[in-house]
Amino acid sequence: MDQVKFTAMKDGDKEDYDFLTKHEIEHTKGTADRLLTALVALDEGLSGYQITRLGHSLQSATRAERDGADIDWVVSALLHDIGDIFAPYNHDEYAATILKPFVREQCTWVVEKHGDFQMVYYGEHVGANPEKRQQYAGHMYFDDCATFCERWDQSSFDPNYEHFPLEHFRDRVHDVFARQAYDPDVIKAGMRMPLVQG
Ligand SMILES: [Fe+2]
Ligand SMILES: [Fe+2]
Repeated sequence: MDQVKFTAMKDGDKEDYDFLTKHEIEHTKGTADRLLTALVALDEGLSGYQITRLGHSLQSATRAERDGADIDWVVSALLHDIGDIFAPYNHDEYAATILKPFVREQCTWVVEKHGDFQMVYYGEHVGANPEKRQQYAGHMYFDDCATFCERWDQSSFDPNYEHFPLEHFRDRVHDVFARQAYDPDVIKAGMRMPLVQG
């Protein structure tokens, strides 16, 4: 069997769906490599800054690592703008959706909201509300998102900052996306790990 027998989903039988499940599991194993390839594609997008989007992503992840942040943070920092490729108007939600089954809830929330939190740095120049983040005041991850933006995101547009190459992060991206999706021990709902050690 190398393809299903049906032409409409409702006509498929157990053999068809067992076959597809096996295929989908194989496909899932390639997620990390597809994301790494997509990060390289980010290099071609969005000109006008002094560094490329890939450079920005690598700087963010490098800063996270140098702050002593854990693997969930480093991989989240690396991928936080991956949504720029296909979802320029909600790139934060797009990236968060990719990360959600595989990283701590804390990191997913921060990636999902980082666009709103970033407004404090430039909202006034583009006619947006700089205090958009205030809608989340009191949220348990509010300060984490503020720190993420201040230390890793808004600061990472510097052509003179020496960052690690993509290769440096490859194994960690593989490790994260090889986790069991939505495993409670991965999601760790409500747990806060520091962004900065020491
Ligand atoms: Fe962003
Ligand atoms: Fe960013």
